[in-house]
Amino acid sequence: MPSSSGSGLPAASACPDPRRTAATILVRVEAAGAHAARLLGGVPPLVRELVLGTLRWQLTIDTLLAPLLRQPLAELEPVVRVLLRLGTFEAHRLSTPPPVAVSEAVRVARTLAPAASGLVNAVLRRVCTLPWPDPADAALPLYLRFSHPRWLVERWQQRLGGHLEAALAAAQEPAPLFLLAAASHAEELDAAGCELEPHPFVAGVLRVRSGVATAVAALAAGRAYAMDPTAVLVARLLPPCAGVTVELAAAPGGKSLVLALERPDTPRWAFDRHLGRIGLLRRAAALVPSPPRVAAADGNRPPLRPSSCGAVLLDAPCSGTGTLRRHPEIRWRLRPEDLQRHAEEQQHLARAAAELLQPGGLLLYATCSLEAEENEEVLAGLPLAPVELATHLPVGVPAIPTPLGGVILPPGNHGDGFTVHLLQRT
Ligand SMILES: C[S@@+](CC[C@H](N)C(=O)[O-])C[C@H]1O[C@@H](n2cnc3c(N)ncnc32)[C@H](O)[C@@H]1O
Repeated sequence: MPSSSGSGLPAASACPDPRRTAATILVRVEAAGAHAARLLGGVPPLVRELVLGTLRWQLTIDTLLAPLLRQPLAELEPVVRVLLRLGTFEAHRLSTPPPVAVSEAVRVARTLAPAASGLVNAVLRRVCTLPWPDPADAALPLYLRFSHPRWLVERWQQRLGGHLEAALAAAQEPAPLFLLAAASHAEELDAAGCELEPHPFVAGVLRVRSGVATAVAALAAGRAYAMDPTAVLVARLLPPCAGVTVELAAAPGGKSLVLALERPDTPRWAFDRHLGRIGLLRRAAALVPSPPRVAAADGNRPPLRPSSCGAVLLDAPCSGTGTLRRHPEIRWRLRPEDLQRHAEEQQHLARAAAELLQPGGLLLYATCSLEAEENEEVLAGLPLAPVELATHLPVGVPAIPTPLGGVILPPGNHGDGFTVHLLQRT
């Protein structure tokens, strides 16, 4: 059997068995630091649900499993740990009858970790009898109710205030499919049996309620674009302005698409440093009639003259704490000290962005991180004047102002979380 992960397990694509495939992916995420979302392309919905659900509920699952084990969960082989978590998740959270979930996990254990199949059987039978902690039980701490690291919930208590519980709850649910589509294409999709619901505050964005296969066909044909609603909103927060607009970290190209569709006449450049991701950016650009000029470039040394641009959109690489619904493993990997490392990278990019601006030019700085270190603290030393963003938001958008005139757009059912600032060279 081929192995591509170094874990000794077969490649996910070679496994037609959803639970075995899910276990294989989870071992790569757990032991090889892989990004779950990158391993889920083309997998059956059950695999996606098993992988992302197990990662989302990992803390709750581990809390249930710990008293049933003689040794700490962390000391088990990754594949055994993964099978215990997967079986617990399926028995408690999916509609699979618990005995079936257990026997399926044991069946997979017999092939992937035969020596541990007895342990998997015994522990999973017992875990099925335990109650799942109720997320509505206010007597439990929030981090346990919603399976997030305690340090993160504690810092968000300050940062997100009254938006915290909705943010945590949304991170525990699968992300809906949202499309950005012109009205005429939305009508075609509707006629083809795709049930679409307009987004409550991001115009042109539609939630796919049913008919996902039809929607996916429209995506492939370039008649609609899969977009997170908040990402669309963020791109629109860049005011129209004279001169060239540059994106310094543009791949995979979601915001480039929005600008291309809605500012076709503005000259635009889209750069990214990573060659693999440039391919995604070029593919996104090929979908629209007025694409930006795309080039591989380090945003720290953009190939443009200083003071030559009307606007820079810097959607900076970040910790991704606003995207835990789509990337649930981030919460278990991130350490508070990682924020400083991200901040240093962001500071270099933000300085390079500021140097590109002509007088009066605008910098829209966004991250899908909710953390001050990666946002207002990065921008505080730049020779640019903050522009108040709250008044530019559509009505109804949940938003928290930052001390630098920007907004935190907390994650929720409506979309991912971002922090956005607008600054001007005076
Ligand atoms: C948050 S993503 C951008 C998402 C994109 N704006 C969109 O809407 O699809 C950050 C991007 O920064 C790129 N990146 C990281 N460091 C960079 C650098 N020094 N120069 C240019 N791009 C960089 C990464 O490759 C990644 O594609």
